[in-house]
Amino acid sequence: MAAKIIDGKEIAKSILEDIKEKISSMNEKPGLAIVIVGNNPASEIYVNMKVKKANAIGFHCEKHALSEDATQEEVMKLVDKLNQDRKIHGFIVQLPLPEQINEKLIIDGILPHKDVDGFSPVNLGNLVNGNNVLVSATPQGCMELIKSTGIEIAGKYAVVVGRSNIVGKPMALLLLQKNATVTVCHSRTKDLAAETRKADILVAAVGKAGLIKKDMVKENAVVIDVGTNKVNGKLLGDVDFEAVKEKAGFITPVPGGVGPMTIAILLQNTLKAMELTEKIWN
Ligand code: GUN
Repeated sequence: MAAKIIDGKEIAKSILEDIKEKISSMNEKPGLAIVIVGNNPASEIYVNMKVKKANAIGFHCEKHALSEDATQEEVMKLVDKLNQDRKIHGFIVQLPLPEQINEKLIIDGILPHKDVDGFSPVNLGNLVNGNNVLVSATPQGCMELIKSTGIEIAGKYAVVVGRSNIVGKPMALLLLQKNATVTVCHSRTKDLAAETRKADILVAAVGKAGLIKKDMVKENAVVIDVGTNKVNGKLLGDVDFEAVKEKAGFITPVPGGVGPMTIAILLQNTLKAMELTEKIWN
């Protein structure tokens, strides 16, 4: 039987409506700033989508664009300014950064309670401890999508393909918190298919179009595709969607699956950051 398609657009829409409702009675609106450095075309598109959505639901949103040849000091100065700015409750620095910029030092410079990407060592450490303060938006969005299927996560075998700090690792930790048995696969995994075939829940986050084929998926699995790969002008996921949807129980499409969730959760994190900053300032 063909898989049920998980509609990330619909689920994201209901999260956004919930945020809109929550902020409608507030005098001060949540303030989000987005920093972009350089001219990465994909980053431009993502950042503009984030700004547009933030404005549409009534946030105060600022885009700060620095040039491709910006220095470490210039980026750090902006980070320091946004750390101190009382109109801004949370901000992100869009990745990747140009090669002259040390990404780690920039992320380390963001105050943890304003780090709405959840990338800072403090927020990642909180997640490891099971204390979810500000958690990276994409894995959090994936958890919401899994939740929407109604399946029980506890006791399931979950496989995460990809070990990045922003998706794979936090994803594995979130699944572990919900008592799944979790395996993280990566480029050095000896037999990827043997691992993915065991997965009741399979999350693909590697950035390789169509890597996950039908014969690598267990019958009735929940398949979450984080990949966004541009191939001949077309956006493709890490999963061979057309074939895998004939075997999986649930599957996310690309586009329209994880992508819309990432933005909705970023805005949800900003609202959370507003509560955190207000506790600190007032
Ligand atoms: N680049 C790709 N995804 C993300 C994200 O979620 N946040 C930031 N800051 N950069 C990204």
